[in-house]
Amino acid sequence: MALVTMKEILDDARKRGYGVGAFNINNLEFLKAIVEAAEEEKSPVIVAVSEGAMNYAGIEYLAELVKVAAGKVSIPLALHVDHGKHWEVIVSAIRHGFTSVMIDASDKSFEENVEITSKVVDLAHAVGVTVEAEIGRLRGVEDIVNVSEREAVLTDPREAKEFVELTGVDALAVAVGTSHGAYKFKGEPKLDIQRIRKIRELVQIPLVLHGASGVIPEIVELAERYGAKLKGARGVPDDQIKEAIKAGIAKINIDTDLRLSFLAGVREYLHENPDIFDPRKYLGEGMKFVKETVRMKMRLFGSSGKA
Ligand code: G3H
Ligand code: 13P
Ligand code: ZN
Repeated sequence: MALVTMKEILDDARKRGYGVGAFNINNLEFLKAIVEAAEEEKSPVIVAVSEGAMNYAGIEYLAELVKVAAGKVSIPLALHVDHGKHWEVIVSAIRHGFTSVMIDASDKSFEENVEITSKVVDLAHAVGVTVEAEIGRLRGVEDIVNVSEREAVLTDPREAKEFVELTGVDALAVAVGTSHGAYKFKGEPKLDIQRIRKIRELVQIPLVLHGASGVIPEIVELAERYGAKLKGARGVPDDQIKEAIKAGIAKINIDTDLRLSFLAGVREYLHENPDIFDPRKYLGEGMKFVKETVRMKMRLFGSSGKA
């Protein structure tokens, strides 16, 4: 099936009250794991590519791989830029066939964010590409938005409404207590579910939860058993993800859980098979772990069986 837009996928999710995962890829193994999981679960899926992934693999390699993958399956699949920070990256992604883009100017002032986002919306909508933007700042994401934990700002519902009206954006990422990576909470994990509800009341477009990985304890344990050092790693518990979807989240971004799953699979395999040096063996094991994690997420989000 040809690639579809993020909007097509999320409009159905919003209407029917389920969430759709946006899973990050950097290479063939993660892509195959995600797409095979989606096909087996009969779930729509969003494949996300960050600027870091483009720098690592090359945008043309990743875009073509995803198009090949989409052609092999029957589920709706969108190819999405994750945290696009640069105009040239957005333009290049659209040229390479991405069906949706995130423009992340959440580290700028409200006015600048509106101006930058509107420019991207104009370009993208002219060619049928849908746009996600972000308002508010996630905690602990120095590497992505250059703000410190102290400067984190949860999304103001009225500002969100004004932002959507001014920009015409198709999906909105909100800051409600999550952060990227494996160390999300020092104390008890807590999302501001009430804030999601308020935003949802005022904003009619699908809402996006970044930093949504669960940092699955069993996976962390397994990786640590085989040498990883991940002390203090903690993510968003499954029940809070369910609550967030009920409150109005439609797109859920997952990267860290895939990284940790891959790591656990590869570490275990290499430890158990010290004589093996064929990369297809250990990368294949990592891929199996990623696939299983994606399948679990699709069931958790309620997207299984919806394609
Ligand atoms: O939210 C960001 C994603 O986890 C991508 O991370 O910029 O290291 O590729 P990255
Ligand atoms: P995690 O680090 O929680 O997986 O979040 C990923 C993300 O938000 C990608 O945009
Ligand atoms: Zn993110």
